[in-house]
Amino acid sequence: MAAPATDILLQVGPEVAIPNAFVVPFYLEDSKRRIAIARVDARLYAFDDLCTCAHQACPLSGGQITGKVIMCQCHGSRFDITTGAVIDGPATRPLNVYKAQEVEGGIQIRAADGDHSLPQSLV
Ligand code: FES
Repeated sequence: MAAPATDILLQVGPEVAIPNAFVVPFYLEDSKRRIAIARVDARLYAFDDLCTCAHQACPLSGGQITGKVIMCQCHGSRFDITTGAVIDGPATRPLNVYKAQEVEGGIQIRAADGDHSLPQSLV
């Protein structure tokens, strides 16, 4: 029997539907973090929901998504949701990104390799 996966951060059921070009926020009680899940061209992307801008930490799920780029509603920082990279500031720090996949009609989010901000029990 396979060992249980320890890197699953979030598992939501099939009742959570994310339409194409939409972003939905989720709060992880365990790790006290917010993760946004976006669907673009039928594929899911997961990343930190809070902007890394030094001025504030606005939720990116309230921003505007255009293709694979999300723009923060507060000061206009733009991030590549596939890598977390900053495209335009004022933010300078990239977002953490996560592995997102549909499993049995639901959505599963896993820690990405090299995410050192997570407790080691989740990586
Ligand atoms: S809080 Fe997002 S750009 Fe400043």
